[in-house]
Amino acid sequence: MSDTTFATTAQRLLETRGLSVRYGGVSANTDIDLAVGAGEIVGLIGPNGAGKTTFVDAVTGFTKSSGSVSLAGSQLEKSSPHRRRRAGMARTWQAGELFTDLTVAQNLAVAVQSVGLRAMFSDIVNGSKPPADAIDRALTLVGLTDVADRRPGELTLGQQKLVGVARALVGDTRLVLLDEPAAGLDTHESKEFGTELRRIANTGIGVLLIDHDMSLVLDVCDRLYVLDFGKVIAQGPPAQILDDPAVVAAYLGSPEVEAAAPQNDWEEQA
Ligand SMILES: Nc1ncnc2c1ncn2[C@@H]1O[C@H](COP(=O)(O)OP(=O)(O)OP(=O)(O)O)[C@@H](O)[C@H]1O
Ligand SMILES: [Mg+2]
Repeated sequence: MSDTTFATTAQRLLETRGLSVRYGGVSANTDIDLAVGAGEIVGLIGPNGAGKTTFVDAVTGFTKSSGSVSLAGSQLEKSSPHRRRRAGMARTWQAGELFTDLTVAQNLAVAVQSVGLRAMFSDIVNGSKPPADAIDRALTLVGLTDVADRRPGELTLGQQKLVGVARALVGDTRLVLLDEPAAGLDTHESKEFGTELRRIANTGIGVLLIDHDMSLVLDVCDRLYVLDFGKVIAQGPPAQILDDPAVVAAYLGSPEVEAAAPQNDWEEQA
């Protein structure tokens, strides 16, 4: 990653260096250098099995990795998932389901509890950030305060997906890693979802977005990284990525497909 990517070091949030994960004989991630700045939406794309979820697992501490992971300059590669969450790193899970019997606000409250009892206790002792406030702030960030008391079944699919994002924003989240958060949305819903992601990033939160919906990714991301067999094969602004011969060769196959890429779902081609 060149030092000119971000204006100042202070703006950098996530930075990985040489991040690698092996599962038995499989190199699921190999030497990944990736950065996400404050207020940036960075896309991580690649075909099924390329190692995208593995990367999120490694960054958030849910799988064993080698290499370094830092958030705003603090080294976290030796920290537990809980500590990384407390440092301001949050994720969504691929196919993360909502609790259908709970209201939207209650779905977020469950996320607060998963941040840890000790964190909640210190919040109470210090008289800071009662969970209700944190939940309200997260719902405000995704524009869902009006539906806080509804159940997921009463919401549009797009709103349900935003509840999933809001869950990761509860607390002092500085960086959010979204693993296919828009899966199943139609073109219109996906566009609206992208607008909300931009609003979230505009508050200074860094966003890493994994999605197979190429129109969403190309539309909303400031920069992209392309993974193939666990390695970064290309990185840069969306327009540059589409022109990259390695990306075209690896994923898009032919010039005709390349031209149509914004409408294509790479998952179907993979
Ligand atoms: N827990 C695990 N144990 C063993 N191998 C795994 C494990 N998780 C992932 N893998 C393997 O690591 C590689 C990367 O998988 P990963 O799930 O990260 O890909 P992905 O890019 O997220 O794919 P998709 O687009 O389908 O979600 C694959 O070969 C997968 O089979
Ligand atoms: Mg995945």
